[in-house]
Amino acid sequence: MARLIVVSNRVAVPKSGTHAGGLAIALRAALRRNPGIWFGWSGRATAKGGETRTVEQDGITYVVTDLPREDYQEYYNGFANRVLWPILHYRLDLAEFSRRDLSGYLRVNERFADELHKLLRPDDIVWVHDYHFLALARALRERGHSNKIGFFLHIPFPPSEIVTALPQHERIVLALCHYDLVGFQTVTDATNFARYLESETAFPGDAEDGFDTGERRVRVGAFPVGVETEAFSRLAQRSAESGFVASVTASLSGRAMIIGVDRLDYSKGIEQRMDAFERFLAEHPEWRNNVTFLQITPKSRSDIREYTAMDQLVSAKVGQVNGAYGEANWTPIRYVNRTHSQAQLAGLYRKARAALVTPLRDGMNLVAKEFVAAQDDDDPGVLILSRFAGAAVECRPALLVNPYDTDSVALAINRAMSMPLEERRARQRAMRQTLLANDIGQWPGKFLGALTGRARIMPPVPAGGLRDAGPVSAVARQMRSRP
Ligand code: G6P
Repeated sequence: MARLIVVSNRVAVPKSGTHAGGLAIALRAALRRNPGIWFGWSGRATAKGGETRTVEQDGITYVVTDLPREDYQEYYNGFANRVLWPILHYRLDLAEFSRRDLSGYLRVNERFADELHKLLRPDDIVWVHDYHFLALARALRERGHSNKIGFFLHIPFPPSEIVTALPQHERIVLALCHYDLVGFQTVTDATNFARYLESETAFPGDAEDGFDTGERRVRVGAFPVGVETEAFSRLAQRSAESGFVASVTASLSGRAMIIGVDRLDYSKGIEQRMDAFERFLAEHPEWRNNVTFLQITPKSRSDIREYTAMDQLVSAKVGQVNGAYGEANWTPIRYVNRTHSQAQLAGLYRKARAALVTPLRDGMNLVAKEFVAAQDDDDPGVLILSRFAGAAVECRPALLVNPYDTDSVALAINRAMSMPLEERRARQRAMRQTLLANDIGQWPGKFLGALTGRARIMPPVPAGGLRDAGPVSAVARQMRSRP
């Protein structure tokens, strides 16, 4: 049987006392079915780097390597997170390109290819994850490897008008043509990539049949990441009865809870969300002292200026809202930077009346899906979801909002808080069915089947266009029904 080699920047080596997310669990399951290796960064930057360790756990081999500090700076903090991350999230204004960071990025891709070169066998299947390794297949091909190599992008892929603003995009983005399969979260992302290839290359082909580079046919597909719907639901039921969740609900003194859970990242729209919550309190005084917004936000990428700046802005915003609306016995927004376990979050989701998942742009957003999975179907909470999250494609019955439109998000909060039970149930039922049908357990098989098989993988463009998601507001419905 062919071995599977998974490559990602972060490697989910199991740690005692922690629950892995659904994605890590699904990849581990795939690595048990096709025994192989999960290879990536150890998470450590050392003066010289280069130290590689092998850890065997539960039948899976993890190989992790340290990065030299210079590489950590130029590849991770630099090109990956200050150029690719903002640009792929449509934030050209935040991208800070430097040639030095680009060469650090390419150097790490080469270094990873050197390490893999030592491990790879001719029939191994290689599955590379995310924007850290756009150029890895090219480096492997240069070392003589003709294995099946697939790539999955976990974050958005914007239209070519944005991608082509990336200096030297031909060198970086076209490197994806050395993969056999390039997968995305949504049809829109996949189509954007296909259009990029159509405009920037003369390769014959299209999104449905792939592109012929002369050396290989690069196929393009959408493989939306799901959650472990049933297992997460059971976890939420158990955890809702835990001492931790009981203590949180008791501390609310009967008030309703709205929840938000995001890494501290500008793509998540946390500041805009605070504005919307403030507007909701301003416009709906009946909810003051009757609702608490719990925003859980672990800090991330704290060496990067935009992240520390955002940290200060969000803290200031929270302080301002709490100062303006808080009372001696009520804090409107509880803002928590501590990391919580999957189980704790699952229980909190189940107890929340609504979730605010309002990224300005997001590849998928699994918080949205986990929130739905966690609900009690007889008395579910309401998901308020940005139309710019990949999850909006499958969660259309959520209250879809434009996170830039403060008034409409404030309106959606009010609508969620006063939504009749029957409507909540109907929306929940439809979303749960969709999430059950696209469980994360099937995801590795779908991607690897497409990588090794010949099936057509891009669905034909649906009648009515390529839009993945749209607003469901009454105004939009009226506009659509106009002749
Ligand atoms: C996103 C990316 C992942 C990344 C994660 C956390 O979900 O798609 O590749 O691992 O953010 O970011 P970090 O920089 O801490 O790995």
